[in-house]
Amino acid sequence: MPTALITGITGQDGTYLAEHLLSVDYRVYGLIRGQANPKRQLVETLLPDVRIVEGDLLDQTSLINAIQRVEPDEIYNLAAVSFVPVSWNQPELTGEVTGLGVLRMLEAIRVVEGASTSRPARNGRIRFYQASSSEMFGKVAVTPQNEQTPFYPRSPYGVAKVYGHYITVNYRESYGIFACSGILFNHESPRRGPEFVTRKISRAAAGIKLGKQKDLVLGNLDARRDWGFAGDYVRAMHLMLQQPLPDDYVIGTGESHQVREFADLAFRHVGLNWQDYVRSDSQFSRPAEVDHLTADATKARQKLGWQPIVSFEELVQMMVEADLKAEAGQR
Ligand code: NAP
Ligand code: GDD
Repeated sequence: MPTALITGITGQDGTYLAEHLLSVDYRVYGLIRGQANPKRQLVETLLPDVRIVEGDLLDQTSLINAIQRVEPDEIYNLAAVSFVPVSWNQPELTGEVTGLGVLRMLEAIRVVEGASTSRPARNGRIRFYQASSSEMFGKVAVTPQNEQTPFYPRSPYGVAKVYGHYITVNYRESYGIFACSGILFNHESPRRGPEFVTRKISRAAAGIKLGKQKDLVLGNLDARRDWGFAGDYVRAMHLMLQQPLPDDYVIGTGESHQVREFADLAFRHVGLNWQDYVRSDSQFSRPAEVDHLTADATKARQKLGWQPIVSFEELVQMMVEADLKAEAGQR
């Protein structure tokens, strides 16, 4: 039975990936930080078969200890400061976790595998997945974006992810570590954090429909994103680590939509006109925006045989339906 270690187990992707790996008979460990992490109970309830190991991407020793204890075949590094606006307020922390945290994880693998510049880990056992991001493309000059598209990050988060990407490539090339970088475009679900725009909209549509919320204030309604379903994307992470050779892959649907289109569909699903409830305010604008992202996932389709199942319309409906249920049961 293969063993996987997932960092970021308390996040959206961590829970979907754990479910997927358990369904294909993995032993799954999740790395949790802090001595009293409030989300630990959530993981224990939702995923009782996941074993918890303590550690923090800010602490090198804790990562080495975690690997020595778990002896994983595969490591999925999903942990990060992941909300882009936070990265302007806490740029140093973002660099430490989202950027240098990747280096610490790779160093932990290198140390445990006993690799050095004179003795590469040619037969290294541990396979490593880094959660890279379409935010690295940022101010794009070419649409759609693929593995060859140049990076032009627009936030401290994007800059940290570029570091994480290149250090992953570098440890693969320097030490022979089986390390892959998955350049994933936005993916959402009913488990998406409420600070991200899709969940903010789906919760508001449900809340307004049920008379529990009056209106919704957003930022830039013109921004375009390539939104897919998180459950589809974790399958791609796993597939990357099953290939004969490590490589980097763009993962996305190839379709992009404006924020206003997401709002339109979500409100229509509950029989409302979004324009009656949504307004835009500069408090949610960003110092430097990423206007438009669309994936060209041809390589993943051809080499991994991966493609998304859930459509944009189905994703919006799934999220609004889940929030209708949650709102009805809650307040
Ligand atoms: P998320 O829900 O925000 O989860 C982030 C996770 O990182 C949480 O489990 C958090 O744990 C953990 N974490 C934060 N700081 C940590 C630290 N110092 N040590 C250990 N763990 C720490 O993110 P997500 O949406 O699942 O995304 C997963 C990864 O994919 C992230 O790296 C994100 O940047 C990247 N990504 C996401 C998307 C997307 O659209 N979702 C697209 C491209 C790339 P706590 O609960 O303790 O805070
Ligand atoms: N969060 C938020 N809140 N975004 C808004 C709002 C609002 O009220 N109004 C408009 N937007 C716009 C943002 O300006 C951005 O252009 C777009 O909606 C998407 O914002 P988010 O949902 O916050 O996601 P993101 O694209 O910045 O980042 C997500 O996707 C990246 C992949 O491209 C995160 O999951 C990152 O971790 C991930 O790397």
